[in-house]
Amino acid sequence: SRLWLIVPAAGVGRRMQSECPKQYLPLAGRTVLAQTLARLHAAFPAATLCLCLARDDARFDASMVPFADWRRIDGGAERADSVVAALAAVASEAADDDAVLVHDAARPCVATDDLIRLLAAVREVPDGALLAAPVADTMKRAAADGRVAGTELRDGLWHALTPQGACFGLLREAYRTALAQGVALTDESSALETMGRAPRLVAGRRNNLKITQPDDLALAEQILAAQVS
Ligand code: CTP
Ligand code: MG
Repeated sequence: SRLWLIVPAAGVGRRMQSECPKQYLPLAGRTVLAQTLARLHAAFPAATLCLCLARDDARFDASMVPFADWRRIDGGAERADSVVAALAAVASEAADDDAVLVHDAARPCVATDDLIRLLAAVREVPDGALLAAPVADTMKRAAADGRVAGTELRDGLWHALTPQGACFGLLREAYRTALAQGVALTDESSALETMGRAPRLVAGRRNNLKITQPDDLALAEQILAAQVS
């Protein structure tokens, strides 16, 4: 069946504290967005891309897109709204059992083999799957006064990365259900969990970082330079 890639790139990058949205900052010779799309294209050259951009985005250039089959989608107020807009825009073309992977534009360091393993899991398990990495540090819960309220059991805690995905029909239904219940969603797994689904955690590289704060750009540059592919 067909593979759909949804790349939300309609954010403003508030935490980055830069005038330019982070997906358009330069990284290893091109924009963050172009790097991310190149990564996805290397793994899935035949996929159809849904690229969610802000309606008034003046920085985007079609030369950043290596895919032959792609469309531009108007993003929404939150990441979840951008993903929902993409799912809605292609719903008439997509089959329920097509695979869909959602990947943050701000994660340019995702490795090809992690992408391939994630897609295999999405195609294999009925509840969807996500790239994730086990937590390494001891986890503290903070009290309102900034002091330690307790220590969380680290065993079994994972960082949720992207891509995350499922079959098209299931993911669309999951977002519909979650948004109708007013659940605030920051990833696809949360939407699937709302429906009682249990997506599979696929162990991926920890250096699949999401560029979030100013320091992260230099870190991403080092990660890309160290990667063979
Ligand atoms: N995103 C989007 N539509 C939104 C908000 C975010 O498509 N309304 C995208 C971002 O462009 C990013 C991804 O979702 O690629 C992950 O979001 P995040 O890292 O939070 O990016 P921003 O929302 O841009 O950053 P911040 O939260 O610091 O403002
Ligand atoms: Mg955000």
